Amino acid sequence: MPQIVHVPEHRLWVLTGVESSYVLHLGRDELLRSLHWGPRLDPEQAASLLEFPPPRHRSCEDPYDGTYDLSAAGGLRYGHAGLQVRFADGTRDLELAFVSSRISQYDAGAELTLEFAELHYPLAVEARYRLHRGSDAIERRLVLRHLGAPDARGIAAEPITLVRAESATWVLPRLEDYRLSQVRGQWNAETQLHRTVLPYGETLLASRRGVTSHQANPWAMIDDGTATEESGSVYGCALAWSGSWQLTAERMPADVVTLSAGYGHTPILRRLGPGERLETPVSVGLYTEGGFGAASRAWHDYVRAHVLAHPDELRPVLYNSWEATEFDYTVKRQQALADRAAALGVELFVMDDGWFGARTHDAAGLGDWTPNPDRFPHGLGPLIEHVHGLGMKFGLWVEPEMVNPDSDLYRAHPDWVIHQPHRRRTENRNQLVLNLARADVADWMHGAMERLLAGNAIDFLKWDMNRPFSEAGPIDADGCDYRPGDDRLWFDYIHNLYAVLDRLRADHPHVRIESCASGGGRLDLAIAARTDQVWASDNTDAADRRHIQHGFSQLYPAQLMGAWVTDSPNPFTGRAVPLDYRFHVAMAGLLGLGGDLDRWSEAELSRAAEMVAAYKAVRPLIQLGTQHRLRGPEHELSAVQYTARDGSQTAVLAYLRARRFGRADPELPLRALDPAARYLDAATGRVHHGAVLLSRGLPLELPAGDYASTLIHLRRVE
Ligand code: GLA
Repeated sequence: MPQIVHVPEHRLWVLTGVESSYVLHLGRDELLRSLHWGPRLDPEQAASLLEFPPPRHRSCEDPYDGTYDLSAAGGLRYGHAGLQVRFADGTRDLELAFVSSRISQYDAGAELTLEFAELHYPLAVEARYRLHRGSDAIERRLVLRHLGAPDARGIAAEPITLVRAESATWVLPRLEDYRLSQVRGQWNAETQLHRTVLPYGETLLASRRGVTSHQANPWAMIDDGTATEESGSVYGCALAWSGSWQLTAERMPADVVTLSAGYGHTPILRRLGPGERLETPVSVGLYTEGGFGAASRAWHDYVRAHVLAHPDELRPVLYNSWEATEFDYTVKRQQALADRAAALGVELFVMDDGWFGARTHDAAGLGDWTPNPDRFPHGLGPLIEHVHGLGMKFGLWVEPEMVNPDSDLYRAHPDWVIHQPHRRRTENRNQLVLNLARADVADWMHGAMERLLAGNAIDFLKWDMNRPFSEAGPIDADGCDYRPGDDRLWFDYIHNLYAVLDRLRADHPHVRIESCASGGGRLDLAIAARTDQVWASDNTDAADRRHIQHGFSQLYPAQLMGAWVTDSPNPFTGRAVPLDYRFHVAMAGLLGLGGDLDRWSEAELSRAAEMVAAYKAVRPLIQLGTQHRLRGPEHELSAVQYTARDGSQTAVLAYLRARRFGRADPELPLRALDPAARYLDAATGRVHHGAVLLSRGLPLELPAGDYASTLIHLRRVE
């Protein structure tokens, strides 16, 4: 059971999870410091940290700078300030006084609330920390309240401008060195893992695009530079937010390091009026031992236990017809593809872009969410019935946040798009972003999706978002809803998106949703809480995918990661990769098929059916088990292992990029097995000793040629 203990005589709070503790101390100056983040300490041990010598005097600055958990701007503190305000009279510094602390226990954990009040101005600040049972992940958020009441003459108090209101500032302990792990990317090349020595100064990871982004993902990990996949301490944090965000890793010249994460980006301002309250999204902090592998497994467990709505549900094998047909639609062709998919063992047929309005190409129709009358003269019903008749579920692509200027929706509501009155409206993929921050737009969007779901037997939505914000400004061009100095469009847009998704999910509990934003542009903990899987990338080239999936897996579990087998040569890279390799790569997540099945030979179709069946046999291990990245994609031979939580089965996916004459296929040492047990490979009849698999390894017999791969499924026999 997680524990949060208050030691009032020392002004200490000790938050203890399964294997770690986080210790907070309130100084005599009323400033909240982080005293410890690492292995477990009991309250008495934590209190002994107060006997340690204070940091050395540093002239011209606060020697504790960089150790504040509540990092409010002010005084001689020049490190990154997660909380920055402007009061109406221009005052910028915050002076907070401690008011109270509250610890509440609930079934699944405990929560600590530390409340502070501004000494002069009407602002209350709460720092909240939540620890769930069975986890070391700490969920931290801020709650800000403007306490101002009208004065004696009835004149309203002035609003407070929030420059930054970050969810958390995670203070790292003193390490020999500091190395930052992050993912960088672009469209078609998301989540590329990058590790680098953390430079001095502030390193900013961010999205200014209004969406989580392909370019960066809202998490970071820090180690001392020596951690490996298997060993070492790793400190990580992530932000649960799907709009613009900022994550600052600061290494101060005195070698003190913090990770601060929050929504919005500089300079986006919020205005807090009298009586108003603002609650930031959650930032999650997680300390682990056991290297990057253990860190990822702890994040996966956190996501499965506390983020996903249906963590125990197996995701179906899907077929998506996008790459096969693009905008070239007929019901007959979709039905024919559905027939082929069903014969392969596919469980969910998804019809992608091109079914609605005048959407016969990508320059028209977005916004008009009714079936194209020429293509679907009798609506979607006949196709859905056909798909259901084949025993598959039916899924549909939507992009509800967007509009093409060439659409009935835009012609009726040209003022509904994000824009600034005297700026051009930059189109991207011929489309504009609907201003979902407006209540009327959010209502319309909910209504359009509700009609689709209520009027059709849809089981699954692929919810796409294909362009970032530009020329984003007021909520309403006429100014009626716009408060100067309040950029709340960036925030209200996302809150309204969440509200629409939450409402649709509550009203249609059987519908599952895939998050997509031109591939993996909207992957984060908050969207993962409202959808069931994420399309990791439009890039379906299996060789590139190994890298994308490796980066994806650092924080997010395989259960969230959509992956398709498509045609070869790949339409994006032109690379030819054998069918087995394409399958084995896609099997490492949620297997889907996305190729033009009409062009696959009989031999390919029959192999595909075997592969789908093989995936289903190991699916519970991949989707619900634990993951060990045995060798990363930077190696000629790379591999991932998935093990059932009860240890009864394990599955290994191994990939050899290029053959070298004379070099034998290596043996692959496995993880997470019982050395005393024996494991049967039913495909070969061979029985392996756990001790041998763990030490010498699993002998691989890979097929000839480049891009050789295998799936080995072992069951414990004793
Ligand atoms: C985006 C998605 C693709 C596909 C197209 C359709 O690019 O990422 O998977 O749905 O839109 O236009």
